[in-house]
This record gives sequence, C-alpha cells and structure tokens, in this order.
Amino acid sequence: MNIPSHGKYNWLPKLYNAITALKPSKIIEFGPAGGQTTITMAMALKDNNIDGFIKSYDIWNDRYWGSQYNTQNQIDAWGVRDYIQLNNLDFYDWEPEPFNFMYFDINNDGDKIMKLYDIVKEQIDMAGSVVYFEGGSKERDRYVKDGHKKMNEIKSEVGYQLLTENTKYSLSRIS
Ligand SMILES: C[S@@+](CC[C@H](N)C(=O)[O-])C[C@H]1O[C@@H](n2cnc3c(N)ncnc32)[C@H](O)[C@@H]1O
Repeated sequence: MNIPSHGKYNWLPKLYNAITALKPSKIIEFGPAGGQTTITMAMALKDNNIDGFIKSYDIWNDRYWGSQYNTQNQIDAWGVRDYIQLNNLDFYDWEPEPFNFMYFDINNDGDKIMKLYDIVKEQIDMAGSVVYFEGGSKERDRYVKDGHKKMNEIKSEVGYQLLTENTKYSLSRIS
C-alpha cells in the first residue's frame, strides 16, 4: 500500500481499505487540507482499478492547513489528478448531492457531526451510503472547543462506530 505518511492520522490504511472494499463510484470529502486523506482514497481507487471519483471541498482559509494550489500540486505529484476535483465550498453552503462514500474532516465536533447526519441520514438508510469521519473517540473529545457538543454526546443518536483505539487521532464510521 503506497499512501502518504501523515504525522498524526496513523489510521490512513483503514481509509484506504474502506475504499478498496466498498468500491464507491462517487466520493465526497469535506476538509482535504493538505490532501493526505484525499490522496489515500485516490490511491485506493487507482490501485484497484475502481471507476470512482472524489469531489473534495474545503474553504482554504486556514494558513496552517495550506492552500488549494499546494494541495493540487501534491495530488499531481502522486499521479492521481484524474480521480480528484478540489472545490472551494463551505460545508454549510453545500447543496446535498448523492454519494456512495463520504470522508468528513472539518475540525469536527458533535454539532458538526449531528448537522451532517441530519443531512445525509436518508442516503445512509435508503441508498446504503457510508460516512467516515475524523474523531469519535473520548480522547479526541477532550480537544473539542468549549461551547460545542462532544462527539460522544451524539454517538447513540447518530449510531456511529469508532474504528480506532481511544486515541486523539481517531476515525469513525456511520452506516
Ligand atoms: C483537520 S483539517 C483536515 C485534515 C486533512 N483531511 C488531512 O488529510 O490532513 C480541517 C480542514 O477543514 C477545513 N474546513 C474547516 N471548516 C470547514 C467548512 N465549514 N467547510 C469546508 N471545509 C472546512 C479547513 O480549512 C481545513 O483544511
């Protein structure tokens, strides 16, 4: 498995394996930032000859996470340009569209995951769409900003499953 090394998300192989197993044709991502998660999903599509495409949305206003230009350069360097379209869009302005698989990573907290779930639960229930998101562990919730819900506060309502150990850099699935 040839995927980017990420200093924090050591669960990237789980994301790669999910794409390999589910073979989604339409992938939506929120929060590509530097593109490691995006490239990981695209490498799974490429390596397995999956006829899939990733639409990836970010607001690109965070200097720490870099620019769309730099992320596109990373994507080009990995040879996966044909699998990805980067877009400038705020999640809160998203017009919901059909997808098979979503990866959601916008500095998550319980409020954002709840809002996402309200928008996509019909697709999950009726079409079998699958959502992976960053976080979900109790340890990760220690870093949720004051005034926002912890992810574990909405866990039973959303019915998400933690896919990693109880570590800060965690990964969860809604399906
Ligand atoms: C934690 S980073 C994502 C990390 C990335 N997936 C990786 O592979 O390292 C969060 C990203 O979400 C973006 N973001 C924050 N709020 C957003 C929103 N409302 N809509 C779209 N993107 C948002 C930020 O600009 C940032 O690039």
